[in-house]
Amino acid sequence: MKKTEKNKYLPYGRQHIDANDIQEVVSVLESDYLTTGKKTIDFEIEFSKKVNVKYAVSCSSGTAALHLSLLAQNLPNESRVIVPAISFLATANIVELSGGKVVFADVDSETGVLSESTITKAIENTGDKISAIIPVHLNDSSLDMKMIRHIADQHNLKVIEDACHALGGNYYENGKITGVVGSNLYSDLTSFSLHPVKAIAMGEGGVITTNSEILQKKILRLRNHGMTRNADDFLNNELAFDKSQNPNPWYYEMQELGLNYRASDIHCALGLSQLKKLEKFISKRIKLFKLYTKHLESFSPTIIPVKNNFSVSAPHLFPVLIDFNSIRKSRAELMRLLDEKGIGSQVHYIPLFLHPYYKNKYHHNHYEGAIKYYERCLSLPLYYDMNEDDVIRVTTALQEIIG
Ligand SMILES: Cc1ncc(COP(=O)(O)O)c(C=O)c1O
Repeated sequence: MKKTEKNKYLPYGRQHIDANDIQEVVSVLESDYLTTGKKTIDFEIEFSKKVNVKYAVSCSSGTAALHLSLLAQNLPNESRVIVPAISFLATANIVELSGGKVVFADVDSETGVLSESTITKAIENTGDKISAIIPVHLNDSSLDMKMIRHIADQHNLKVIEDACHALGGNYYENGKITGVVGSNLYSDLTSFSLHPVKAIAMGEGGVITTNSEILQKKILRLRNHGMTRNADDFLNNELAFDKSQNPNPWYYEMQELGLNYRASDIHCALGLSQLKKLEKFISKRIKLFKLYTKHLESFSPTIIPVKNNFSVSAPHLFPVLIDFNSIRKSRAELMRLLDEKGIGSQVHYIPLFLHPYYKNKYHHNHYEGAIKYYERCLSLPLYYDMNEDDVIRVTTALQEIIG
């Protein structure tokens, strides 16, 4: 198909970059400093203000954000960490990479996220003590974080929120907004991804938020090889200071194992510029979400938008649940036919326990809720540059395909 403007290809997600974003990046490229500098600090300050938290630390991806968050908790080797059975690979992989062991918890078959009963069951079924939980806001801010904090407190679990889908979203209690995702109202640390399909784009990038100065300092060190240049923190006085007790100008000290997970000023300049548009982006996404919901009403119950535990507050994806038996087409066929009509779609996600790595390692795992969700889910295009005509184009294409 020729991709004219009218029939332009609609991917399931994409970034929106304007002239200001380009100018901000160009100005860093024209400056003397490309790596972690002023733009990084400015971005972190603005991000922390945006989500109402004391500290925000930027890093190279959402995966890096999750990895740093877990490393900062200093959990003993082989610690058990609860991860939902439906998420992107990163949520589980960082547990394994940090020397921990994944304990999968099932998800609710209609929302795709952890529920009280699935978390409780995972805790009960695991003979060993569990140290932490990484709840994932899927598609939007979608977790009952008050409930999760309550369970975590009962079992002494650290809570690392995976909010890679939920920048700009809210927390709810009894239908009322209680705070902003990232403020850590119910968690120790929160991780965000600023990959191009997310609410705002950095190219590749991530952010960790926390209210703990100790954790912020630790994450800053871990992001930079575990080293410090702060003379007050030096441990090896003999190497660190000269005879007059002045710090040696070359000296830096590594006190724990870290990596290079820094974000560059180039990426942070883009992040900072995009952050200014977060509300505009989110309100357009909400508008599109509502339009989809309206135009899909007549498809119920064959195709229904995925339910959220709460109100739509920052939709990252527009996932629907499809009864493939009743449309007499497989998901692969539907995706190919949509693609022929210039419409992208994606599956979020293949249950983690079905991937060969996890299947081989934890072969007894099987989770009904995750399977039921996975077998029906499909994410349709949702991004800032779409308009109502695009939404209608998608729903009309669905109508034509399912007949
Ligand atoms: C739920 C979730 N967690 C973690 C990540 C990892 O983020 P990144 O791709 O920025 O490393 C993603 C990215 O898609 C995600 O969707």
